[in-house]
Amino acid sequence: MKLPQTLKAISVALEQCLRRAGVDTPAQDARYMISKRAGLTWAQSIASPDLVLAADVIKALEQDAEAVLAGKPLSRIYGERAFWGRDFAISEHTLDPRADTETLVDISLKRFSGAGAGLNILDLGTGSGCILLTLLAELAEIEKAHGVGVDLSQSALQTARDNAIRFALADRVAFVCGHWGDSLSGGFDLVVSNPPYIANQIIPGLAEKVRKYDPILALNGGDDGLKAYRIIFLQLAYLLKTGGLALFEIGYDQAEALMRLSGESGFHNTRVHLDSGGLPRVLEITRTEPSGDK
Ligand SMILES: C[S@@+](CC[C@H](N)C(=O)[O-])C[C@H]1O[C@@H](n2cnc3c(N)ncnc32)[C@H](O)[C@@H]1O
Repeated sequence: MKLPQTLKAISVALEQCLRRAGVDTPAQDARYMISKRAGLTWAQSIASPDLVLAADVIKALEQDAEAVLAGKPLSRIYGERAFWGRDFAISEHTLDPRADTETLVDISLKRFSGAGAGLNILDLGTGSGCILLTLLAELAEIEKAHGVGVDLSQSALQTARDNAIRFALADRVAFVCGHWGDSLSGGFDLVVSNPPYIANQIIPGLAEKVRKYDPILALNGGDDGLKAYRIIFLQLAYLLKTGGLALFEIGYDQAEALMRLSGESGFHNTRVHLDSGGLPRVLEITRTEPSGDK
């Protein structure tokens, strides 16, 4: 693809290209691409429509546009994704954080803002660290929360650590490589998790941008999509303090099965929250008794 040379003309051409690629917000994304490659703020790019961009910048934008037309998400091209107002680094080993996951963050903040100092948070399957680091940043003022992020992927954890440094949170977080809560003892006020929950026979039919760019470890929830929940629900009995809360992202059609599973795991104080589209998205479990609430 050949782009023109001036800012305004490049912006129009990129917008057309993004629209052709089926992107939802082409004008916004064209501005984002220019800001990434030319280092211009939104205001600068509006104020200087006749600015001629350097040849190497135009070349890079042409390659990016080709990649978008071939189906590559912008987040994978630039290695970052905005989540709760912060730009998180992502890698081929991390899930590309989804806007849906902000529902879990929203509920966590509503439950714990103003709860007092010393909150201890555990994030199982932390990936880029987007959930845990957002909570630590947002709960910074009063609570001075601290947390542990667990993942089976060492490479994902490296990205989470980079993000902790990026947001000046490294002194309040520890990242541990392991299988869910296996290597941890308890004492958490809040356990959050967005585990892999896609049933394995669904995976071949997922959109190409998911199948091709999100790591399989972040997607595959076993034969029925519930494999990780089965393990983690049992671990909650020792991970959570009495009175502690666990919040899980769930698939839109998994609420009933997971309510049943949490009951079978000894937790009866459970509820489901809907996302902004009205779909079941978060399962909330409260530990009310010292040894699970049987
Ligand atoms: C759906 S992704 C969620 C990532 C991130 N929390 C987010 O919301 O964007 C699930 C994460 O669980 C991790 N994972 C998969 N199996 C695991 C296991 N047995 N123990 C710990 N983490 C695991 C994956 O590597 C992946 O980072």
